[in-house]
Amino acid sequence: MRTLMLWFLPIFLLCSFCSVALWIFLCNNNVNPRPSSRIPQKSSESCKGCSKDNVFIAKALENYSHKWKKDEANFKRFRSLLSSKCHAVSKAVVTQNNTPLGSNVIYDGERRKPLQVTQALFNILAKEQPFGNATWESCAVVGNGGILANSSCGEEINSAQFVIRCNLPPLDNRYEKDVGNKTNLVTANPSILHEKYSGLMERRRPFVESLRPYGQALLLLPAFSYGHNTPVSLRAFYTLEDFGSDSLLPVFLNPEYLRSLSKFWRERGLNSVRPSTGLIVASLALEICSNVHLYGFWPFSKHPNDSRPITNHYYDDRASKKNVHSMPTEFEHLSKLHKQGVIHIHLGKCQPPLS
Ligand SMILES: *[C@@H]1O[C@H](CO)[C@@H](O)[C@H](O)[C@H]1NC(C)=O
Ligand SMILES: *[C@@H]1O[C@H](CO)[C@@H](O)[C@H](O)[C@H]1NC(C)=O
Ligand SMILES: *[C@@H]1O[C@H](CO)[C@@H](O)[C@H](O)[C@H]1NC(C)=O
Ligand SMILES: *[C@@H]1O[C@H](CO)[C@@H](O)[C@H](O)[C@H]1NC(C)=O
Ligand SMILES: *[C@@H]1O[C@H](CO)[C@@H](O)[C@H](O)[C@H]1NC(C)=O
Repeated sequence: MRTLMLWFLPIFLLCSFCSVALWIFLCNNNVNPRPSSRIPQKSSESCKGCSKDNVFIAKALENYSHKWKKDEANFKRFRSLLSSKCHAVSKAVVTQNNTPLGSNVIYDGERRKPLQVTQALFNILAKEQPFGNATWESCAVVGNGGILANSSCGEEINSAQFVIRCNLPPLDNRYEKDVGNKTNLVTANPSILHEKYSGLMERRRPFVESLRPYGQALLLLPAFSYGHNTPVSLRAFYTLEDFGSDSLLPVFLNPEYLRSLSKFWRERGLNSVRPSTGLIVASLALEICSNVHLYGFWPFSKHPNDSRPITNHYYDDRASKKNVHSMPTEFEHLSKLHKQGVIHIHLGKCQPPLS
């Protein structure tokens, strides 16, 4: 009996470990606490035996399998619930209106160290909400999941009125066919600014040049999640300002909005530290768009259709290091909304447009 236990325990631990490790970040979110909570990287090899994911995939597919049709009543109900709790239209971004001079910005991940809004900070806040009065007819929210590779969804994504992307993803001609090239809003997490651009402490021109593909989109910076996110986000802002005119418009994500959004999803059973960037922008889209399409959201390493292995991102197979989000649980919630006709998740190949 004892020896049996000795064998069973490591197997059990291995299985729990890999289901945790498989929680891939679709919209690779690293607006995180300092990297203390290291979680080992995913290893698809060791996960072959973990059937929990397979069950989950099967369940998710079941919800996905029937033809999607928008349910106007469900959509309206969900949207008004969401807007009554989160108010994205007036709160998603920090503005001079919702954050007066002299007030305190309370970090959503570090409540005890508020930041006072000085004149200098106030001056660079957006004058008004970028989502002002608009309701877009159709929005494409593009996650970075490997499921997008070879999807041929580029044209369909481009045809949306408002296209949201996550964490400065590559859009060059290697990927254009699958992910499109139109962008109206793109997020940039502080971690990518550190990893790819030396935290903007060295040459800044490469940063500015790499942003060209996004045209004049809004650049959404989660500057106020943790204290250490602020300086690098401000450097991104100043860099764009200093290098001049026709580039991205940087705006700061409002920690108050994030707090209410976390609460909204927590009350629906999501107990991660905070929603991932993907869930944040999908929620935002649900408030500002009449038709919300999700692409590149699929937190598993196997393709739903034929179980072929898929990479972590459409552009690489880097695993995420941290584990503050529970992607499969988030996906389950989105999947429920898909089933209810509220949000349209695209997993398969897109139809080539009729010409
Ligand atoms: C499928 O939908 C049901 C209800 O519509 C939901 O409870 C369940 O969590 C969903 N499953 C997955 C894996 O998304
Ligand atoms: C929204 O509408 C108000 C009044 O109609 C107007 O003053 C404001 O400029 C508009 N904002 C945007 C972002 O369009
Ligand atoms: C995409 O298609 C190309 C060419 O058919 C193939 O080499 C590549 O492995 C595919 N990538 C994925 C992720 O399926
Ligand atoms: C997207 O690509 C098309 C053709 O490849 C090009 O004409 C268009 O200007 C590009 N759009 C953006 C926003 O880069
Ligand atoms: C799944 O694969 C089959 C056969 O390759 C294809 O006909 C079908 O369109 C695919 N479905 C999706 C959702 O990609």
